[in-house]
Amino acid sequence: MANVTVIGAQWGDEGKGKIVDWLASRADAVVRFQGGHNAGHTLVIDGNVYKLSLLPSGIVSGTLSIIGNGVVLDPWALKAEVEKLEGQGVVINADNLAVADNCPLILPIHRDLDGLRETAAGAGKIGTTGRGIGPAYEDKVGRRAIRVCDLAHLDSLEPQLDRLCAHHDALRAGFDQPPVDREALLEELRGIADFVLQYAQPVWKRLKKVRKAGAKILFEGAQGVLLDIDHGTYPFVTSSNTVSGTAASGSGLGPNSTGYVLGIVKAYTTRVGSGPFPTELEDEIGQRLGERGHEFGTVTGRQRRVGWFDAVIVRQSCAISGVTGIALTKIDVLDGLDEVKICTGYRLRGNVYDYFPSHAADQAEVEPIYETMDGWSESTAGARSFADLPANAVKYVQRIQELIETPVALVSTSPERDDTILMRDPFMD
Ligand code: IMP
Repeated sequence: MANVTVIGAQWGDEGKGKIVDWLASRADAVVRFQGGHNAGHTLVIDGNVYKLSLLPSGIVSGTLSIIGNGVVLDPWALKAEVEKLEGQGVVINADNLAVADNCPLILPIHRDLDGLRETAAGAGKIGTTGRGIGPAYEDKVGRRAIRVCDLAHLDSLEPQLDRLCAHHDALRAGFDQPPVDREALLEELRGIADFVLQYAQPVWKRLKKVRKAGAKILFEGAQGVLLDIDHGTYPFVTSSNTVSGTAASGSGLGPNSTGYVLGIVKAYTTRVGSGPFPTELEDEIGQRLGERGHEFGTVTGRQRRVGWFDAVIVRQSCAISGVTGIALTKIDVLDGLDEVKICTGYRLRGNVYDYFPSHAADQAEVEPIYETMDGWSESTAGARSFADLPANAVKYVQRIQELIETPVALVSTSPERDDTILMRDPFMD
């Protein structure tokens, strides 16, 4: 298996950035296949911090980086991110960045609608990142999106704009908002078109060539399986499929190309935004983990909710996404606890569940069944071999592996690229 697909197996923020960066240094191409600039991937390389939202993590190391058709692309966010990284010395050009010409665009009207809906929902809000992701995907599925390839045909865009704006004007009227200013929108598109078009191409073709040449491709998922539009905690989810299967449809390669599926799993659980979270800790342990783990959103700066490791949801995510092996991250955040807990099942109205039920009310009501293990006082931070881990940390990793029925391929012990314990090499497996 030459290729690797990386996905988050919880609610996002599992530490994918570091693992992807580590793998990207050995890949020939890195592909984003879903989501948009709602993602937040932090890379720390030689002490330098790079924060990415839209660009594939390979871009920092100069690896060919591809934004696939499954992504919703905010062209202004792309420009801002490219310029920010260039300011940090990263070289970005048409040789190392390709954007699918069939990517739907996120427009200012999508951001507006995202905000209007969230405000109107009050306490029932999803807690979105406010980037317009959901409304942009709605327009894609509604067959009225403006896509990257349309930027080369702005003079004949009017019928498409009419169709798009008729829809948005009706929605905006419901929120007492003025109709879309079409001229202003067209002007904004004219202003950004050339910047995006320099990277635009049929990326499926580029990938076909790359694959034929025997290159190693890394597919970089965003968010996590519990935020998947079908399999997640609906309606408190994002608007794309975050599972591994999307790597194929969101980039233009067949399912036989996506290779080893590496699920990224944090050694505890976090979630940002609203929705059910059975193992959430609202006590001083949760606060301690949040502080030690710097659990603040990369994109919105929001404080993340924190809880114990939930083996039920991770086992489910691994099954749904066909995970070959996991990378366990941030184990060092648990250092110094007297005991650690793992959720092994749920209780709901007198019944025991070994899976996370689909209904939102059931998901909100399930009570976790915990197994308690001794913690470890020694530091795991920076360990680079299994032998460097304290015995109780090893037991914790082994127990997780058993409960989720999936092997641990890597353990990450700090944000630094090389502080990684490798059990199995995903590119060689
Ligand atoms: P949206 O993707 O902005 O529509 O937000 C929908 C839900 O997904 C919200 O709960 C967000 O907090 C969550 N979400 C979106 N992107 C990420 C991410 O990269 N990490 C964690 N949560 C995310």
